[in-house]
Amino acid sequence: MQQTSTLLAPSILSADFTKLAESVAIAEKAGADWLHCDVMDGHFVPNITFGPFIVKAIAQCSSITIDTHLMISDPDTYIPDFINAGSHQITVHQETCAHLHRSIQLIKSLGAKAGVSINPATPVGTLESILPDLDLVLLMSVNPGFGGQKFIPSSLGKVKQLHDMRNSLNPEMVIAVDGGVTVDNAQDLVSAGADALIAGTAFFKAENPAEAAARIRSASR
Ligand code: DX5
Ligand code: ZN
Repeated sequence: MQQTSTLLAPSILSADFTKLAESVAIAEKAGADWLHCDVMDGHFVPNITFGPFIVKAIAQCSSITIDTHLMISDPDTYIPDFINAGSHQITVHQETCAHLHRSIQLIKSLGAKAGVSINPATPVGTLESILPDLDLVLLMSVNPGFGGQKFIPSSLGKVKQLHDMRNSLNPEMVIAVDGGVTVDNAQDLVSAGADALIAGTAFFKAENPAEAAARIRSASR
């Protein structure tokens, strides 16, 4: 994938939910490329966040890509609702999909870009067969469920491995990394092959989110 600057996706999970529209505006003004919406069901992950209703509210006050990360069991049941709510990209977890190819085709048939996410303990090699069908892979660099966790260092090697794989299987596919991303590890992640970085705490809890965004986006290969 050829690009000039690193794609930044602030995770709305770390925003002030009493000021949702304002938080969206802060992200957009800071040059965010996507808004990352973390959907958790209290079943696949030990936390519950929000559903299509809130994604719709976010989409209504946003003009950038709505990137929805479904950390839910049985995602196929809810994919149409999240696309109707305004998601431009939907990422499902490989660990939740018995028929992953079917889930990906469902997302694409409804006009959204399709991504697959894998947990830190899931090997990159398990993506090989599905890779040619994907618009993006979201590599989890923390165990999904909460914002504000510490980056798992072995994730860096997984980014490199995925980068090598995509060169031969699907050069246009975007590699995104999610969890514990900071201004300090952004360059290492991009050097390893990441195109897009998800940042919750590092963006919304920064003293100066615009400056944090500029630093993360300036990481280059
Ligand atoms: C974790 C979520 C992440 C999280 C990122 O389950 O998928 O998107 O909100 O938050 P930080 O950047 O604080 O690790
Ligand atoms: Zn996420």
